[in-house]
Amino acid sequence: MEGLRNVSSHCSISDMDDYDLSRLLDKPRLNIKRERSFDERSLSELSIGLARAGLDHFDSSYSPGGRSGFDTPASSTRNSFEPHPMVAEAWEALRRSLVFFRNQPVGTIAAYDHASEEVLNYDQVFVRDFVPSALAFLMNGEPEIVKNFLLKTLQLQGWEKRIDRFKLGEGAMPASFKVLHDPIRKTDTIHADFGESAIGRVAPVDSGFWWIILLRAYTKSTGDLSLAETEDCQKGMKLILTLCLSEGFDTFPTLLCADGCSMIDRRMGIYGYPIEIQALFFMALRCACALLKPDTEGKEFIDRISKRLHALSYHMRGYFWLDFQQLNDIYRYKTEEYSHTAVNKFNVIPDSIPEWVFDFMPTRGGYFIGNVSPARMDFRWFALGNCVAILSSLATPEQSIAIMDLIESRWEELVGEMPLKIAYPAIESHEWRIVTGCDPKNTRWSYHNGGSWPVLLWMLTAACIKTGRPQIARKAIELAESRLLKDSWPEYYDGKLGRYIGKQARKYQTWSIAGYLVAKMMLEDPSHLGMISLEDDKHMKPVIRRSSSWTC
Ligand code: GLC
Repeated sequence: MEGLRNVSSHCSISDMDDYDLSRLLDKPRLNIKRERSFDERSLSELSIGLARAGLDHFDSSYSPGGRSGFDTPASSTRNSFEPHPMVAEAWEALRRSLVFFRNQPVGTIAAYDHASEEVLNYDQVFVRDFVPSALAFLMNGEPEIVKNFLLKTLQLQGWEKRIDRFKLGEGAMPASFKVLHDPIRKTDTIHADFGESAIGRVAPVDSGFWWIILLRAYTKSTGDLSLAETEDCQKGMKLILTLCLSEGFDTFPTLLCADGCSMIDRRMGIYGYPIEIQALFFMALRCACALLKPDTEGKEFIDRISKRLHALSYHMRGYFWLDFQQLNDIYRYKTEEYSHTAVNKFNVIPDSIPEWVFDFMPTRGGYFIGNVSPARMDFRWFALGNCVAILSSLATPEQSIAIMDLIESRWEELVGEMPLKIAYPAIESHEWRIVTGCDPKNTRWSYHNGGSWPVLLWMLTAACIKTGRPQIARKAIELAESRLLKDSWPEYYDGKLGRYIGKQARKYQTWSIAGYLVAKMMLEDPSHLGMISLEDDKHMKPVIRRSSSWTC
């Protein structure tokens, strides 16, 4: 493994940077028997993709795009099939969204929608929104913009951050930033938002995690370890880690969060221990482990990370996991148990299980639920958290398969006519009033409340490839291709089936565009997956196995 340091001994995570070819090649064969929908065509196409990636450098940290010209997507020149006409359009739109600081590209604007009257902050570079753009550029052999972005946001992290009279933690990364061009003075300045301007004034907990994850993707893709090794990057990582590894009153290894601190950036009842943040936290910890220099200070961090990873995976794999068996167990829980022998540790009252989940749960399959805290389980299914759980190997291999099984058997509910629901199901009526505070943007089956977000396509595709189920990704991509360009790349779709362009959806939403490109490029060349995926840690055994349905 060139590029990234092998830190398995420090982190007790083996092969964390290796994208294991044998697994990918073996998996589809295993799945043919188990799963009828895996057809021969997808198997042969997957192998073509692998062959094209070149077995020789498959295991190296490079997954270069080998681009032939600035405007030519490498993927279409490499492609032996006819590229979909949408791919060229998408590249053009993605390049239109580039943001420059002193003539250097530093990111992409959230949406390039001239028709929309209110710009709000969609003219800014969002950290989370830039991730699929960054992956698209890396896959196309254009790492410079990603490097510029990482350095620029790192600089912003160094700013003093205040909300009224309160100072934010040093490590906080911005949600977004804007480049202001002064045409007279010919100067560029930057304005950054760490939550002090955001609707609801919430700091983005996900930004720092995405930053670390992207630093690893950059390192893995280019083989250039020198960026991650700089003093500044090492310090930036440590500042982020200090924020989330600090000791306090916590009784759980999960990270306590305010509502709206991630992709779902408005009140949606995700306060507490949201799955999205826990999965990103886990992934960022694993990436940091690979990137930190093991000097005296670095070793201390690596040690703390390793302990936290251990506790976090135990907690998540046990308490957040829900399948048929587990649901049945909770349904029969006794309450008010005291002492360490309690089975119902969080005192969840079975009456609080919502009706819908009994029908939704397939006999085979499972998922990580939205939130677990005292007397509260949020049974909603969230796309991002479950996909990232697969990519980071927070989910065990069995759990990963179960998550994909559930997506397949609940296709109509979770994918419908446009991949992919951000959350399922929607919150309605009285509950909507209480949980969202009557948010008119988050009405049922819209926006964060059960809306369908094309950006999630890249994560679904990555999870499909990792679990050896590319045919699911292919189906999802076909759905996206039937609408996205025609509808001018909306931010989200509304309705139970995701059939309608979202009520207030922006058009030319950059991450819808980039997400599509990343999904296409990964399916075409699965070796790209290594940038954004971490192999299962063989030493980190799942300790709790309350359900037998994983293995059947
Ligand atoms: C919305 C989304 C958020 C995204 C932003 C910019 O606020 O909820 O996740 O980062 O738009 O696209």
